Amino acid sequence: MPSVLRLEEVTKVYPGPPEVTALVDIDLAIAPGELLAVMGPSGSGKSTLLNVMGALDRVTRGTVEIDAADIATLSDRELSGLRSHKIGFVFQDFFLIEGLDATANVAEGLVYRGMRRRERRDRAVAALERVGLGRRLTHRPNQLSGGERQRVAIARALVGEPSIVFADEPTGNLDSQTSEEIAHLFTSLNAEGATMVVITHEHDLAARFPRIVELQDGRVVGDRVR
Ligand SMILES: Nc1ncnc2c1ncn2[C@@H]1O[C@H](COP(=O)(O)OP(=O)(O)O)[C@@H](O)[C@H]1O
Ligand SMILES: [Mg+2]
Repeated sequence: MPSVLRLEEVTKVYPGPPEVTALVDIDLAIAPGELLAVMGPSGSGKSTLLNVMGALDRVTRGTVEIDAADIATLSDRELSGLRSHKIGFVFQDFFLIEGLDATANVAEGLVYRGMRRRERRDRAVAALERVGLGRRLTHRPNQLSGGERQRVAIARALVGEPSIVFADEPTGNLDSQTSEEIAHLFTSLNAEGATMVVITHEHDLAARFPRIVELQDGRVVGDRVR
């Protein structure tokens, strides 16, 4: 099966000054249905790797392919189309819109899809049910716990059925019990077919995932499948 995502000899240099080489010769292929953790100490290049994999930033050298398309060949417009259709993002700080309820926040994930409002809403409700928030549909972010907010953000990332979801330190602002629940949610969403890359520096979280890629000083120093 073709990879959802393939990186070949990817190097990323931030020009600075001072110039920082954040990624060096990264080779990585992710197959449909994988759930993997990217681990590494602070400054090892995890967020840079996520930005490059998610087509949020261009590489200095090397190739990034998403669903077999070399993203360097795409125009900015094609790239933003690809991001909104094929990629879902989850961040440490959730990035929910405070004035909107949970359903409307999730429906935001479908705004570029040319769907009617009603259909966006129905899909948002289904996505919230999938992440266990069927009873919080009309709550606003400030009425939700941290773990619930992150579930809303995960529902928003998944609602458009992207090819791959990237999460950058999704449990970074959560207590250990809630982190555990979010890790469990990732595992069950993956069992239902979602392809996901979860960036974390928490060993306990990563240890639950079937594959762990380890970064150090911008290089892949480990890639283990359990
Ligand atoms: N926008 C940027 N400009 C310059 N240097 C950056 C930028 N973003 C990150 N870096 C540097 O690149 C390296 C990797 O950073 P990052 O990918 O954020 O690591 P991590 O997420 O693992 O903490 C660090 O040395 C960091 O200081
Ligand atoms: Mg980071």
